[in-house]
Amino acid sequence: MDTSGKIKFHTKLKLKIYEEYLKAYLPIMNTQDWATNVSVIEPFAGQGVAEDGGKGSAMVAVDAIKPLQSQKILLLLNDLDSKKIPLLSKNVDVANNPFIKIANEDANSFINKSLKFKGHALLFIDPFGYTQLNKDTYDNIFNRDKLEILIFIPLYHVFRFLKGEEEDVYYRPVAQFLEYFDIAKEQAQECDTLEDFAQLIRSAFQSKMRTHFAYYKSLKNKDCNSQHVIFFLSKNIKGAEKFLYAAEAAEKYFDKQGDLFSMTYDTFKEEADTLINTIKNADPITNSQLYELSISLGMLPKYTNEIFSKLEDDKTVCIKELPNCKRKGKSLYINDKRDNRIEIIYNKV
Ligand SMILES: C[S@@+](CC[C@H](N)C(=O)[O-])C[C@H]1O[C@@H](n2cnc3c(N)ncnc32)[C@H](O)[C@@H]1O
Repeated sequence: MDTSGKIKFHTKLKLKIYEEYLKAYLPIMNTQDWATNVSVIEPFAGQGVAEDGGKGSAMVAVDAIKPLQSQKILLLLNDLDSKKIPLLSKNVDVANNPFIKIANEDANSFINKSLKFKGHALLFIDPFGYTQLNKDTYDNIFNRDKLEILIFIPLYHVFRFLKGEEEDVYYRPVAQFLEYFDIAKEQAQECDTLEDFAQLIRSAFQSKMRTHFAYYKSLKNKDCNSQHVIFFLSKNIKGAEKFLYAAEAAEKYFDKQGDLFSMTYDTFKEEADTLINTIKNADPITNSQLYELSISLGMLPKYTNEIFSKLEDDKTVCIKELPNCKRKGKSLYINDKRDNRIEIIYNKV
């Protein structure tokens, strides 16, 4: 729910990606023995549903968790506004859903406590929530292992503000946020487009979290010419792959909504060139290395597979079976199984 209580278009992006990610991530975590506990953490839960009856993030999470009947998934909800707690409790039916815990405190103390829970965690940070978090909280977040983060930033407003089109009232929290990520105002102002600005923020997140897996997706509303961006960060390749699936599912969903929305579509042209150049300039790489490279570039294995099948067909690359591995047909084994079966070699002749 946004502050006016209506499900607005940027909220649709946020909730759709959240829903798709939970649907992709939780069933896997639920069945893996190595994932002993999983917490879904919402520091800015609101009241669970919007005033128009649409589902808010807390309800979206309940709908994803409940059918799994899991003993190890917890949903940790919080809101600072004490008036929202009874409504939230009622809307998520906390009395009959023992996997839910509800808190009523400032997001900083709530996050810092929640991150102490052992196991895997997914942290969902709402629009404007990012300016509420202080440096210590960000340090805690980025130093935590086994954490996936979905963070939604109304980058359009920030960008317009930096370009001098918004009032100064927005500046303080944004300035603090940029300062934490070592981004000078002038550096941000040098970005020509919102995409460049999103890339700058993505790189800053990536270096703070020390991970290869940091992505963003943006959604434009053609009606009011505004654009919102959701970032995803993880240190875990499986979590990253699930986000790429979730983003693709959201893209298909928005595609069906007609002309109102347009989501950034990846053609993977640059990523494909990067992959090919890596292979050209490096020693042969194995199928597992190709999988890792592909995910870190934000490209699902099915696309890498298509590209490399063509490259094999036109003899740009050749494939060598590794000892004791008999290749099945033209399979490239670009998956998370971590068994090296083939080497991909750039054909220099
Ligand atoms: C946009 S609403 C929540 C939307 C909800 N996550 C959803 O998607 O349905 C943002 C909520 O953050 C709460 N909030 C604002 N500042 C906060 C803070 N510092 N700590 C915790 N909650 C806060 C507000 O009371 C409000 O209910």
